[in-house]
Amino acid sequence: MRMASGVLREALIDVDAIAENVRHLRRLTGVEVIAVVKAEGYGHGAHRAALAALRGGATRIGVSDIDEALALRRRGIRAPIFAWLHAPGASFVEAVRDDIELGISDIDQLLRAGEAAQGDRPAAVHLKIETGLSRNGIAPDAWSTVFAEAARLERIGRLRVVGLFSHLSNTSDDDDRAALARFEEGVLLAAAAGLNPPLRHIAATHAAIALPEARLDCVRIGIGIYGVSPFEDRTPADLGLRPAMTLRGAVAAVRRVPAGTGVSYGYAYRTERDTTLALVPLGYADGVPRHASGRGPVSIDGRRFTVAGRIAMDQFVVDVGDHPVAVGDEVVLFGDPTLGVPSAREWADAADTIDYEIVTRIGARVPRREVHA
Ligand SMILES: Cc1ncc(COP(=O)(O)O)c(C=O)c1O
Repeated sequence: MRMASGVLREALIDVDAIAENVRHLRRLTGVEVIAVVKAEGYGHGAHRAALAALRGGATRIGVSDIDEALALRRRGIRAPIFAWLHAPGASFVEAVRDDIELGISDIDQLLRAGEAAQGDRPAAVHLKIETGLSRNGIAPDAWSTVFAEAARLERIGRLRVVGLFSHLSNTSDDDDRAALARFEEGVLLAAAAGLNPPLRHIAATHAAIALPEARLDCVRIGIGIYGVSPFEDRTPADLGLRPAMTLRGAVAAVRRVPAGTGVSYGYAYRTERDTTLALVPLGYADGVPRHASGRGPVSIDGRRFTVAGRIAMDQFVVDVGDHPVAVGDEVVLFGDPTLGVPSAREWADAADTIDYEIVTRIGARVPRREVHA
């Protein structure tokens, strides 16, 4: 297949796949879906991912930082948006003004949220409690103090506690069940302090699928909405999900070379016989991991090849043997493996990482183009 003339590289984003994945997970879990679109929607584009997820039935948007939340608001996302990782000492005034819900991990953040309440608009918060991931979240020895203060601020109209939440380690079902039990203790303690928020949430994609008892009132789904599997041993298709991102480039040059030709920096690859080399205009500046040098798979014209030698900043080379390849031919790095192209998981394996990182790291230089299934 030929790429459109003038296109060097692009990531196709199938927004219908995102909507359909949300619809599927909503049906499977039977609870509300918070669509997580942090980090530019795991590389897919935060705004388009949010729109597609809401179309698929998500009722709330989750991001990491307030700046990500404000950017979505400014672009017209009206659904509730929730942000949970804050700069030390940051003011929450702008967030409250724009109706951004805040994840709260300690007493200092709670007090600042209360101070940011404006007129008759309380700060809307989700209290995050630490249940074993050892990241942020209110430490168990501070639960009583924070819950009591949250209840007081709620009584005087400065705070609205929308949710209680935590995050799981996905170490094993037993570890996740233990964290869930700690979470339930936190919920009981909060209730004793007078806090009965409508949303209790702990499950991200993995637990939302594998641990039905963790679904509670809603699930926070990130990787699943993009059609990538968080399970080592289950493909997206096994989960009823469709990958939304296809990364591809146009063959930028073709060269016939003799046996023994060194390829790319350091000559980490030398041709074994007369062969054809195709140049692919994607490199580590675009998020293609250099660590996958000599290992990353591509598909050209329905055939699989492997990166030859080192991946450079802007490009890498593929040895296509005697296969007829021309400048302008499409090279797919990854997409939906049910269509015969490599998966993000194969690149993750080639780079000793996870497919979350493969899709999320695709750089700003790669234009995203929306497609509909
Ligand atoms: C607090 C929180 N909730 C939910 C998610 C979504 O996780 P996943 O992409 O595994 O669904 C993340 C992502 O890391 C997260 O940090």
